[in-house]
Amino acid sequence: MLEMPEGSIPKHIAIIMDGNGRWAQSRFMPRISGHKQGVEAVRGVIKACMERGVAFLTLFAFSSENWRRPNEEITSLMQLFLTALEQEIAKLHENGIRFKVIGDLSRFDTKIIESIQVGEQLTARNTQLTFTIAANYGGRWDIMQAVRKMMAQAPSLPSHIQEENLSQYLALSYAPEPDLFIRTGGEYRISNFLLWQLAYTELYFTNTLWPDFDERELELAIQSYQQRERRFGRTSEQLRVVLNTEG
Ligand code: IPE
Ligand code: IPE
Ligand code: MG
Repeated sequence: MLEMPEGSIPKHIAIIMDGNGRWAQSRFMPRISGHKQGVEAVRGVIKACMERGVAFLTLFAFSSENWRRPNEEITSLMQLFLTALEQEIAKLHENGIRFKVIGDLSRFDTKIIESIQVGEQLTARNTQLTFTIAANYGGRWDIMQAVRKMMAQAPSLPSHIQEENLSQYLALSYAPEPDLFIRTGGEYRISNFLLWQLAYTELYFTNTLWPDFDERELELAIQSYQQRERRFGRTSEQLRVVLNTEG
């Protein structure tokens, strides 16, 4: 089988960080302890992505469906999000990381919204790694908000409208589409994450629970990615010709 050029590193990795609750419950700890430990895992993965030269990392932290959880868990998650913002933004900036948040922020506390704005502005010119948190994000919400923006821009849309006309309004329009998608926690679903953007992404699922996902686990995912053949609808033979002419 034809593989990708040796050592090829995904430019954009998108991750559904799942399994925090089960990690905690298996230790007879409250679910929030799992979320706290999950923040540690985020630190490790950011560091590993920087070292490997990954340019974009997008993490699903809270879905538009997660409001269905018990109030107590939602409150703790929001508190944890705020603390993490307050403690980590300066460090992200020191490391040259550009910080972004995608999702419908209108439901969040003003303190959280302000911290996000401060963080995004502070790090806007950084070029090392673009680190995006998806919070109160849903793939369908994203497509709908893009449609609304597009319609507001051009109320009478021509019938020859193209994909690019819409995609420029999607929340992640500043990033290339993800090359590698990872979901931890043993579930095999997209859970309304990046629906449009994952169209041709390589998918990787692991049973490892998010708090246990470390540099070595990321390496395994990247190795799996490197074995894939990304045909984008073409045949293997066609790819061989393209690779040969590119030398
Ligand atoms: C993922 O972990 C984090 C969030 C959705 C906020 P879970 O909380 O879904 O953990 P499990 O799936 O119940 O183990
Ligand atoms: C998906 O996790 C969303 C995040 C990781 C933020 P869930 O654990 O909430 O997903 P479902 O509901 O089991 O699909
Ligand atoms: Mg879960």
